[in-house]
Amino acid sequence: MRAFTDIHCHILPGLDDGPERIEQSIQMLQLAKADGLGCIAATPHFKEGICENTGSRIKEALAGLENHAAGIRLCPGADVRICRNIVERIRAGQIQPINGGNYVLLEMPDFVLPPIEGLQRVLKEMTEAGYTPVITHPERHPAIARDFEGILGWLRAAGAIFQVTAQSITGHFGKGAQKTSGAMLKKGLVHVVASDAHGPERHKRPPLLSGAYSYVKMKFGADYADLLFMANPECVVNGGQVEDLS
Ligand SMILES: [Fe+2]
Repeated sequence: MRAFTDIHCHILPGLDDGPERIEQSIQMLQLAKADGLGCIAATPHFKEGICENTGSRIKEALAGLENHAAGIRLCPGADVRICRNIVERIRAGQIQPINGGNYVLLEMPDFVLPPIEGLQRVLKEMTEAGYTPVITHPERHPAIARDFEGILGWLRAAGAIFQVTAQSITGHFGKGAQKTSGAMLKKGLVHVVASDAHGPERHKRPPLLSGAYSYVKMKFGADYADLLFMANPECVVNGGQVEDLS
């Protein structure tokens, strides 16, 4: 079977709230390998003024892990909390797009959405510069869940695509996230499923995708599952155009 590609994974040691030590990163690689992952984008947090993991820091940490990759392809990325001047920061090497290409993970603030005009300005600035914002786990965001069709509809129209967390689909984030992710899947509003893993331990969400893949395959068919866990994430890493079913 073709391997999974995980575009959102906090696997680098000591950079954020992911693994603290390299031994835990290696354990994550072993779990990922056994689960059928063939490629992982290492995406530590970038939060302005709090946790600014720059491109060079990420690549340096990645190089330290390459020897332990056990056949898994590793590439750099960042989990970017929405902030001002994203394009400028990308060009300055502060913000790391996935594999240095045109896709950038974009995380919303925890409980609220930024003012609409500000959010639109960020998306416009990114898309006009050729970057595609990949909104991370919208199904887990309380403000989006209240009107996911309306909000995701205009975010999509503004050029964003959507990444759902595997464990939302399987119910580990509770009934709300499972219900929203299920409804998003039905409406073609999911482009990529990723682990958002933070460690090898169960409570840190290990990099496992096969459970959610089987669930999507059973409910929606193999083609859809292959698109969200393999073909589209491969496009994000390799610079292709993701398929949009919305
Ligand atoms: Fe994350």
